[in-house]
Amino acid sequence: MRSKRSTTTNEDETRANEMASPTASAASAATSASHYQVPSLTSTLGLFSVVVLVCSFRIFDKRMILPYANAIQNTDMDLENAYGHSAALCAIQKDGLRYIDEWVIYNLAIGFETIYLYDNSEHNELAPWHDQLPQSTKERVVIRHFPSFRAQRPAYTLCWEDIRNRKAHSWIAFFDLDEFLVIKDRTKYPQLMDLLDSLSLEYGGLAVNWVMFGFNGQTTYEPKPVTLRFQKRDANATNPLVKTIVRAQITPNVRSAHFVKYNASETMRTRDTNGKIVGGARNEDLPNDVAALYHIHTYSFGEFKERCGRGDVAKKKSEWNMVLACKPNQTILEEINYNETVYDPACWELLKERAPEYVAKFI
Ligand SMILES: *[C@@H]1O[C@H](CO)[C@@H](O)[C@H](O)[C@H]1NC(C)=O
Ligand SMILES: *[C@@H]1O[C@H](CO)[C@@H](O)[C@H](O)[C@H]1NC(C)=O
Ligand SMILES: *[C@@H]1O[C@H](CO)[C@@H](O)[C@H](O)[C@H]1NC(C)=O
Ligand SMILES: *[C@@H]1O[C@H](CO)[C@@H](O)[C@H](O)[C@H]1NC(C)=O
Repeated sequence: MRSKRSTTTNEDETRANEMASPTASAASAATSASHYQVPSLTSTLGLFSVVVLVCSFRIFDKRMILPYANAIQNTDMDLENAYGHSAALCAIQKDGLRYIDEWVIYNLAIGFETIYLYDNSEHNELAPWHDQLPQSTKERVVIRHFPSFRAQRPAYTLCWEDIRNRKAHSWIAFFDLDEFLVIKDRTKYPQLMDLLDSLSLEYGGLAVNWVMFGFNGQTTYEPKPVTLRFQKRDANATNPLVKTIVRAQITPNVRSAHFVKYNASETMRTRDTNGKIVGGARNEDLPNDVAALYHIHTYSFGEFKERCGRGDVAKKKSEWNMVLACKPNQTILEEINYNETVYDPACWELLKERAPEYVAKFI
């Protein structure tokens, strides 16, 4: 049952993506691949991979791993004084222990000040993981056990309300454990806040498009970082679906994993990096020259198939036969058939530059 991109509504996407999981959007990939898999065309991609390579190499500078090193530029001063001048990341996970170290290290390295992790596992599997983190990491990662069914939107809403009430951060991103934000020009925007500070007050949120990575010809799990394992993508891997980074002071209204709604009295809107308003889960313009959200969509074929037995918080067992990961191998391979010819190691290059001790364990 493949919906044509042009006829899929935002509400469809809301349903298709109301999944909390680890592997979260990974799991949602299982069900949503049939909706979104067709990679869309863009004419800027050839240029873009060159830009990525050029910008990937920058001498390691200690200052760059400090998230608040950069001065306020052109955002409203009252606003910045009222809300902590920093970005937070809210996420919900289940069964993600294999992948979480890399993802946390990456997100702290690009400039999120604090990561709020809602743990959808039954027994709070993140608690012992959190206990053993180095102190400097531990204090920037907050764990909240949240074992309910269909928990993604409620978790995002609670996370947002808490941050807003405390005025703890000025921006909030809602990403999954298989999503890695890539800022293309790291000379211009060394840290995430440098990019967010450059946005005018017409921005209530910034929408970033997905860039999809598939199996990369791999059949089984390996205990290595996913940004090392999956570095090849389709020439046209940018996907119309977006994820949103919102200003914390907007009235919380999480419509789906992908987008937020604004109430009538609010003048700000979610926009893309070109300033165009993005009203829903999709942005068919596919901008990727300033920032993109690299989505390690499937992992290896074996890991993808593991999602079948595991299920997730958004699907009852009786619905598992609807999940792509539970279908015959041939069906899966027909549905997810990216032509992965372009080498694009942007995420791994960032880790090499900013987390050399972590990277050294794998090279
Ligand atoms: C990617 O998109 C461009 C621009 O639309 C198109 O010219 C090119 O043929 C596409 N490449 C592939 C491999 O599909
Ligand atoms: C709409 O937003 C304004 C400004 O943030 C806020 O004061 C108001 O309470 C919101 N209204 C609703 C119904 O959420
Ligand atoms: C499907 O793929 C899995 C994982 O690679 C493999 O173990 C299994 O044997 C395959 N099943 C068939 C029927 O080929
Ligand atoms: C895959 O992509 C390469 C380079 O972008 C292109 O030359 C080739 O024709 C593509 N193959 C298919 C099956 O689309």
